[in-house]
Amino acid sequence: MNPKQAAAERAVEYIQDGMIVGLGTGSTAAYAISALSARILSEGLEITCIPTSRATAESARAMNIPLSDWDTVRKLDLTIDGADEVDPQFRLIKGGGGALLREKIVASATEHQIIVVDDHKLKAALGVFPLPVAVVPFGWQATRDRLEYLLSAPVTPRKTPNGDIFISDDSLYVLDVHFGGPLPDPDALTARIKTITGVVETGLFVGLCHRVIVGHPDGATSEA
Ligand code: 5RP
Repeated sequence: MNPKQAAAERAVEYIQDGMIVGLGTGSTAAYAISALSARILSEGLEITCIPTSRATAESARAMNIPLSDWDTVRKLDLTIDGADEVDPQFRLIKGGGGALLREKIVASATEHQIIVVDDHKLKAALGVFPLPVAVVPFGWQATRDRLEYLLSAPVTPRKTPNGDIFISDDSLYVLDVHFGGPLPDPDALTARIKTITGVVETGLFVGLCHRVIVGHPDGATSEA
């Protein structure tokens, strides 16, 4: 079995009747959505979910997974999401799919956040994967310049496969910061970056992950 699928299916076992569940974004989270849909069908599991992106909402609707919204939900019991890098302190880089803002809002409101990854995502230190930063489109070029100056690292605007600028579900641009190696002081980095006007959020998640489930090439999983 695909390692991402194995990790996602294990995580879905943690979902219990009556829970409010956050649904992550990306290919690993997509396996969790399919597995959850199967559990709802086979066990009649009664849950309600908050999606972390429009794409996830669409997939969930297509699989008859009940969705709720922030008019009725303030706290989630459990969220299953992917990540681009995970370090030994469970700090994460997320936002490879551009959904970092909604993912962080959901993670911040979640009691128990489970991150599902394949073993390539486990890193001794975060920072090889470019750090996504969501910014307001107005004046993004100036925001980019200030980010480069502050961080002494190249910053590029995220593009779609056909070369257009990527626009997030919240109409933001995503700038990728290419540290190319260990992030300087990950615990304080988001606060530093947020001093720049125009920055909305970073894809660095600190203190927002309670369990990591890792899928391995032989289909086995391990968790901590
Ligand atoms: C989307 C994310 C994803 O969770 C992250 O990019 C991992 O994606 P995948 O499971 O496809 O490898 O943060 O914004």
